[in-house]
Amino acid sequence: MSHDIAHQVSIALGDRSYAISIASGLLSQPSAWQGLPRAATALIVTNDTVGPLYAADLTRSLSAHYPKVLTLSLPDGEAYKTWETLQSIFDVLLQNACDRKTVLFALGGGVVGDITGFAAACYMRGVPFVQVPTTLLAQVDSSVGGKTAINHPIGKNMVGAFYQPERVVCDLQTLQSLPARELSAGLAEVIKYGPIADMLFFDWIEQHIDALLQRDAQALAYAVQRSCEIKAHVVGQDERESGLRAILNFGHTFGHAIEAGLGFGQWLHGEAVGCGMVMAAQLSQRLGLVDAAFTERLSALIARAGLPTVGPALGVEAYLHHMRVDKKAEAGDIRFVLIDPPGTALVRGAPDALVADVLQACCR
Ligand code: NAD
Ligand code: GLY
Repeated sequence: MSHDIAHQVSIALGDRSYAISIASGLLSQPSAWQGLPRAATALIVTNDTVGPLYAADLTRSLSAHYPKVLTLSLPDGEAYKTWETLQSIFDVLLQNACDRKTVLFALGGGVVGDITGFAAACYMRGVPFVQVPTTLLAQVDSSVGGKTAINHPIGKNMVGAFYQPERVVCDLQTLQSLPARELSAGLAEVIKYGPIADMLFFDWIEQHIDALLQRDAQALAYAVQRSCEIKAHVVGQDERESGLRAILNFGHTFGHAIEAGLGFGQWLHGEAVGCGMVMAAQLSQRLGLVDAAFTERLSALIARAGLPTVGPALGVEAYLHHMRVDKKAEAGDIRFVLIDPPGTALVRGAPDALVADVLQACCR
């Protein structure tokens, strides 16, 4: 199948609708940044890894549209998704007398995107912002849909806001510098969209997984486009996750327990989600919702993407404990995103004994 390299996906949210631009080389094309809100100042928020690679190109492009372009580089890492880092963004905005029209540009992965989006939601009660995601995970998931947050020492992403960007600009060229482990982590979120929404896309990923791992531009373009289309469709129906949007968390309940149980940062989020999807498929199978062939197919694809399919042996009680503090849990009852049938997801509980069986089968 051949696909054009340039794509545009729309996310329909009434007066908060926006476009997702997907192409190679957008960072250095001034025309890619036309039509955004006008302002005296643009602030690029990036980090110490991504900034040296891409902030100069973006600054040059934005200088065609904004009289003043500032850059703030944050320390790199999930550990810095904190109040203190958020405060450092407000410090720069206030020290430079930035007004309420100032546009923030989040140049980086999901950490930079989440914290910059939350800063934009708060500064002067809300200024415009643009997502410029540079990881595969951020291009196919975190930059789209308006979830913004910082972490609290007691829980990840516990303080935040729903706040939509003005635009998402995915420059596929940036994926060429991504470490291989981060690329695989992003592929977990791409694979996720198949079982929950589109098994034809799943077939396509199976056929193109080697091309994706080799960072083939056309394959990446289609993977980002189709992922964004599916996410846009779901978010367009349930922006604030009162129901349907929870299906985007396929694999995340088990995955969250792996991340929390091992200590955040041991496994990447996408690695935990990959393994969590195998567990959620196993649970769906044990509930009679999918057959063994589907579970094996999903597990094989996750392994081919370079992701773990066997969970750490944290013990059943530890898994259950961490899953009870998942945001989807209701009054302590764990709720799982399950597949029924492949291409469709639902959210429901499951007996602890069945979950224990799955954990015993999937962990070593
Ligand atoms: P990340 O932002 O930590 O980026 C991963 C690493 O890659 C970092 O070291 C980063 O500096 C580096 N990097 C980024 N782009 C690069 C590039 N082009 N070349 C080289 N290195 C590059 O991690 P992530 O996986 O992008 O995002 C994870 C975060 O996203 C978590 O905080 C998670 O909670 C959040 N998230 C949010 C949503 C949402 O809907 N808002 C969804 C999923 C995840
Ligand atoms: N990443 C899940 C969501 O955006 O809802």
